[in-house]
Amino acid sequence: MSKRENIVVSKEDLKKQQVFTEKVRKILEDRYKDTMPMAHVHSYGCQQNISDGEKIKGMLALMGYGFTNSTSDADLVIYNTCAIRENAEDRVFGNVGALKHIKKKNPNMIIGLCGCMMQQKHIVEKLKKSFPYVDLIFGTHVVHELPQNIYNALTMDKRVFNVPDSDGVIVEDLPIKRDGTIKAWVPIMYGCNNFCTYCIVPYVRGRERSREPELILNEIKQLISEGYKEITLLGQNVNSYGKGLDEEITFSELLRRINALDGDFRIRFMTSHPKDATKELIDTIAECDKVCNHLHLPVQSGSDRILKLMNRHYNREQYMELINYAKAKIPDLSFTSDIIVGFPTETEEDFKGTIDLIKEVEYDSLFTFIYSKRVGTKAAEMEDPITNKEKSERFQYLLDVQKDIGVEKYKKYVGKTVRVLVDGEGKSGEDYLTGRTDNFIIVDFKGDKSLIGQFVDVEITQALNWALLGKICE
Ligand code: 5AD
Ligand code: SF4
Repeated sequence: MSKRENIVVSKEDLKKQQVFTEKVRKILEDRYKDTMPMAHVHSYGCQQNISDGEKIKGMLALMGYGFTNSTSDADLVIYNTCAIRENAEDRVFGNVGALKHIKKKNPNMIIGLCGCMMQQKHIVEKLKKSFPYVDLIFGTHVVHELPQNIYNALTMDKRVFNVPDSDGVIVEDLPIKRDGTIKAWVPIMYGCNNFCTYCIVPYVRGRERSREPELILNEIKQLISEGYKEITLLGQNVNSYGKGLDEEITFSELLRRINALDGDFRIRFMTSHPKDATKELIDTIAECDKVCNHLHLPVQSGSDRILKLMNRHYNREQYMELINYAKAKIPDLSFTSDIIVGFPTETEEDFKGTIDLIKEVEYDSLFTFIYSKRVGTKAAEMEDPITNKEKSERFQYLLDVQKDIGVEKYKKYVGKTVRVLVDGEGKSGEDYLTGRTDNFIIVDFKGDKSLIGQFVDVEITQALNWALLGKICE
């Protein structure tokens, strides 16, 4: 068997799951008669997890479940968890704790936990010991075995644990119940090989593996025919897309093929690792009209010493070279980034390097995080003499600096006309709609709800610090 066949879950295995889907359906019909059993599924964390959550809902719908936003009405609760930082984990434990009373009122309720937290042994141990009312725990590599797991949880008198160690699989053709009708997530690859020293992802999501380009293109064609207007390609490091596939293909080539599809839609992608992002990628964004003029290029730190300790494989100079190339090639390209403040041993000098860098790049916006120690990672072993107070102060200062940069950047849009994909009701007042520009900036403006899901031209009248305000061009 080739290495690739080992990674892709076989049709026979998926057929087995279809049999379990039917069995669950029958059990639920007997148990709930004329009423529909309800599931509450909540995904925490990144888009990859949200995308997994959509597959979980797709499988549950085939088993006969309806969906509810309230845990009190639910016969099945599934929390699809995130392990990236401690506060994400705390939130999950808090919410699982709150289910105890709800389950007392509804003892038949099944509580299932899955996602990245479940791939960590110490977390599963804690759940086993302290949360006896959790019925089902399954890991990130067996999401497609949900029908069998639900069947077991419904029929067995004991708790179900299904968390195999694995380098990861690819599962095609799972049913998907998407959260939106305008924007869709399409994973192009899974896992990560980079082992940045602070990050838990490579331990809980397995090795990097890419989907076949044909299957990605077919999924996107289908989405466009269903009326989706924005496709976001997902991967931990999209720029290494294609490695391990029989066909030789780069991420840029994949973008060009998607761009060539017919239809009025736009393409986003995340995340680009600076070590693998190339000038060819920038040229591709410039050349492909449907690819948005936005690059999310997480730098994490502006200090070479810290970047080395983080195992990022680039330095500040290399990062800036790519940014400057991109600025020259595509003047209205917007940049966003992830920054970690308070990595072990980060000095004032290192932090100053980060501040200087964000001033030099002039990001449109930043996703900022205080370093969080993750069990099992290399950084967890490093000395960390920085106090929480220092970390919080640096964090606040970073936010203030970025706010000023953002405001200045946003001001430049006043008087200009931008194209916006309307994606819902706005927060700026009654009758307001909201959407994003091609370069990822939020725009609020007055308009009729019937415009939701369409592209409109908006003239910008005012810059706020989190968004632009404007009026629709007649
Ligand atoms: N602590 C703080 N932030 C982290 N990230 C990943 N791991 C950690 C951690 N242990 C951030 C990085 C990454 C983003 C998705 O989350 O900035 O790019
Ligand atoms: Fe984590 Fe680094 Fe992989 Fe991103 S590239 S998921 S930060 S290890």
